Amino acid sequence: MRQVRTLGLLGTGVIGGGWAARALHFGIDVVAADVKPEMEGWIRGAVANAEGALARLTFAPLPPKGKLSFTTDLAAMARAADFIQENIPEQLELKQRVLAAVSREAPADVVIASSTSGLMPSDLQRDMVAPERLLVAHPFNPVYLLPLVELVGGRQTSEAALAAAARFYTYIGMHALRVRREVPGHLTDRLQEALWREILHLVNEDVATTGELDDSIVYGPGLRWAGMGTNLIYHLAGGETGMRHMLRQFGPCLKWPWTKLEAPELTEGLIDKMVAGTEAQAAGRSIRELERLRDDCLVAVQQVLREYDIGAGATLRALEERLYESAAASARPQIGAAATAQPLRLLETRVRPEWIDYHGHMTDSRYLQVFGDATDALFRYAGIDDAYRDSGRALYAVETRLVHQAEAHVQEPLYVTTRVLEVDDKRVRLLHSLHRARDDRPLASAEQLYLHVNTAAGRSAPMDAAVRARLAAVQSAQAAH
Ligand SMILES: NC(=O)c1ccc[n+]([C@@H]2O[C@H](COP(=O)([O-])OP(=O)(O)OC[C@H]3O[C@@H](n4cnc5c(N)ncnc54)[C@H](O)[C@@H]3O)[C@@H](O)[C@H]2O)c1
Repeated sequence: MRQVRTLGLLGTGVIGGGWAARALHFGIDVVAADVKPEMEGWIRGAVANAEGALARLTFAPLPPKGKLSFTTDLAAMARAADFIQENIPEQLELKQRVLAAVSREAPADVVIASSTSGLMPSDLQRDMVAPERLLVAHPFNPVYLLPLVELVGGRQTSEAALAAAARFYTYIGMHALRVRREVPGHLTDRLQEALWREILHLVNEDVATTGELDDSIVYGPGLRWAGMGTNLIYHLAGGETGMRHMLRQFGPCLKWPWTKLEAPELTEGLIDKMVAGTEAQAAGRSIRELERLRDDCLVAVQQVLREYDIGAGATLRALEERLYESAAASARPQIGAAATAQPLRLLETRVRPEWIDYHGHMTDSRYLQVFGDATDALFRYAGIDDAYRDSGRALYAVETRLVHQAEAHVQEPLYVTTRVLEVDDKRVRLLHSLHRARDDRPLASAEQLYLHVNTAAGRSAPMDAAVRARLAAVQSAQAAH
């Protein structure tokens, strides 16, 4: 299977637009194809709209953005793409016909994935050329912020296609969940539908409004679900004996008719109640406004989960680790070379809205965070990565002297330059300088001392010779300048 540089999109509605935004952000070119020419304007708008939230998801160094092109010629898209994602309406015959046509144009080593919410891959691949490269890759809206993608193979799908797809989705920051065998609705939509069915019953029977039912999730289980799913949460609810106790205690309730398996009839009365309920919840806010609020929350939640290395936060953390590592690997040749005579420019960032104080300026603690990120970037260049830390060695900050020179305002692009002032077996002394990108004006400086420690022993210890040599090469080149 090919390395993916160009993603072909078949159908550029809500889901196609989300795929485009995600892929472009992580440096993949996109050829978007739709039968309706007017969808070009739509997809460009969708990508621009996603950019604000995506830009705040991670400040790790990204490859240059991919390029977007649009065509109504599906065959031209199929010939240009290294990987094709189908996102046309959820109708089996339509998908079968279009997938078969596209498979006649796309070379056999191009994986073709369907975003279908519930159709089975064995049915979709029926009339295709090289059907072994077809799989279901079911994403979640907004595709550009939610990392989950369910991967499902059909009877003819090859292991190579599933593995190549998992690699590609991981590369663009997703969590690829392999579904063991095809079932209608895959995994997540079956769970979501069960909840939705109960909502429809409870609204239909006037037990609750849509708003009350959303409150019943948002203030309670919804908070838990971001970090742990229902099963692990119930394991905790069972006390010391966990799930076994939980099933013994509450299992009999499953036999009581709490929930209904059949969906209620979608009468006009029920539809009206659902629409009126959600309109009341929206309280005059447009879909765009609500999307922005949802996206801001999704970014913030993932950043918190990253601190705990759990759920979607673990995916974000692994993505960042890879981005930092590949930036470090490509810049490592600088170390020790003549270029290091200048202060190293290792960190570019931007003043996030949540960094602002009462006066509209970047607040004190964020300076320390930005300088800490710059130190982290330098140490990565020197070879201190997760593997190094896992081996029980680390550099701990023991002293920081921070000097403020001017203010930074919201969304202001910034960069940090770094000098290595001193290195010995156990210590590194750095001088960082924070600058405003638009005119290079210095805003603050920080002199920091780090001590190398054996983390298990809790004592200072000599650093790895190669790490020390890289830092020393920077120090001596800069000192000579
Ligand atoms: N909306 C969701 O929340 C969601 C989530 C996950 C998966 N999905 C799945 O993604 C797929 C697309 O859903 P959507 O919500 O983006 O639909 P949509 O209606 O927003 O977009 C479908 C697009 O396909 C285009 N199209 C129709 N026929 C075509 C053809 N023959 N060739 C090329 N383009 C064609 C349409 O012009 C339209 O732009 C469906 O299979 C759906 O089940 C949707």
